[in-house]
Amino acid sequence: MAKIEKIKKKILFVTSEAHPLIKTGGLADVSGSLPKALAELSQDIRLIMPNYQALKTNGPVRFLCTVRIDNRDVNLLETRMPDSQVIVWLVDCAEFFNYPGNPYTDEQGNAWPNNAERFALFCRVAVICAMDRINQDWKADIVHCNDWQTGLVPALLSLEHDRPATVFTIHNMAYQGIFPADQVVAINLPGQLWHPDGVEFNHMLSFIKGGLVYADRVTTVSPTYALEIQTPEFGYGLEGLLTHRKDVLVGIINGIDMDQWNPETDAYINPKFNATTLTKKTQNKTKLQKKLGLPVNAKVPVVALISRLVEQKGIDMVIDCLPEMMSMSMQFILLGAGEKDFEQQLQELALLHPDKMALTIGYDEGLAHAIEAGADIFLMPSRFEPCGLNQMYSQRYGTIPIVRKTGGLADTVIDAIPETIAQSTATGVVFNEASAGSLMEAIKRTMLLYTNREAWDNMQVDAMKKDFSWQRSAEQYLELYQGI
Ligand code: ADP
Ligand code: GLC
Repeated sequence: MAKIEKIKKKILFVTSEAHPLIKTGGLADVSGSLPKALAELSQDIRLIMPNYQALKTNGPVRFLCTVRIDNRDVNLLETRMPDSQVIVWLVDCAEFFNYPGNPYTDEQGNAWPNNAERFALFCRVAVICAMDRINQDWKADIVHCNDWQTGLVPALLSLEHDRPATVFTIHNMAYQGIFPADQVVAINLPGQLWHPDGVEFNHMLSFIKGGLVYADRVTTVSPTYALEIQTPEFGYGLEGLLTHRKDVLVGIINGIDMDQWNPETDAYINPKFNATTLTKKTQNKTKLQKKLGLPVNAKVPVVALISRLVEQKGIDMVIDCLPEMMSMSMQFILLGAGEKDFEQQLQELALLHPDKMALTIGYDEGLAHAIEAGADIFLMPSRFEPCGLNQMYSQRYGTIPIVRKTGGLADTVIDAIPETIAQSTATGVVFNEASAGSLMEAIKRTMLLYTNREAWDNMQVDAMKKDFSWQRSAEQYLELYQGI
């Protein structure tokens, strides 16, 4: 490793969200931590993202320069990631990014109508910066792009002479950035890119193809998902292209931010605890029950779920299981927001079972930490899950995850079966089929395990000991950069 660290690369990390500046999901967690981990490996890394109105910077922001794109003046601002030295460049275009709320959708969840133009502009500014056309004496060696919002960057860079190497990371194949063909004109796309082997997909404009076709390396966020996306079930029509590129496609599992998600230091929880002080976890459970208006009972298993409420996460299966779950001895806590239909069905169920179910619709960082600290069991029955972070946070907090065997869930949770329990490697409960029946079976199996206190405590300790730090994954990315 020492040899790799010595070669310092200039890396431009291109992303549409980064925690704690702005977050809608796991992409923000990754963009918040991976650049920091690479900086710790002595890399010269800068992050570039849009300057949304809702961005929460806490340090000085300085004006860098103005670039002109399609008759628009776009400012480039510079700040740092909070609590870190990582430089952040903000693409400041009021017409496109100065709206309140979510980066991608309005309050009803409808995509902003000008998303193609917004993110095409973002990509073009990223290219200008990567090539150092802003005269900062900093030309990127590597441009690392993430998800469809950045997909045009590798495509546009492919047209440049003496260009940096490009990496495109798929965080979710379900979101591809597909727009009507007339957007090609609106975004002033160079004609050389508009063909079926380029960014055209079924006569539509596909941003993600810009990354998948043109990047020098394609990565995704777990080894299992890297295989899954080469099949029709998970490739959504792009499985052929991904199979064609399999020699440059690799799955690197995400890490977690070990400082933010650390039960020994977590500012959102009280008391703090570790694997040797699990009775303090029970105190967190009591506090959580009180806070959410559930009967205080240390013995009853508390099952929790924190998620975007979308089909990917298997919320429909959970809704199907809830009537039976409510007949069992357990409490159920859910924190999430998303599709209105799911929100409404969950609200109806919560009204029927006020003593057993606590529902919070919304996004609440502090409550998410308190739930991880206080719950016994965490549900993550995703239909697909490129990586998933909450199953790792849960293990770190001694909250046993129930997960479906897919993507990163399959790669990070070890099923509690007699052998793994005996070997002290079990850290959760894993089930196969995406059906309410299989989920219910897994829940029942977990309830049974919960009754064996000693085995349960051991499993909690084994889960808490697992190393989910970013360092190993960051080293894998570094090796990948060096190898291009
Ligand atoms: P995805 O990116 O597909 O939503 P991940 O598991 O990778 O899934 O990441 C989700 C992240 O968002 C986690 O950090 C999780 O704690 C957080 N999260 C999701 N919903 C909420 C919510 N309603 N309140 C607080 N945090 C949430
Ligand atoms: C996506 C995926 C999730 C993954 C996250 C970060 O949002 O849905 O599984 O953990 O990206 O890579």
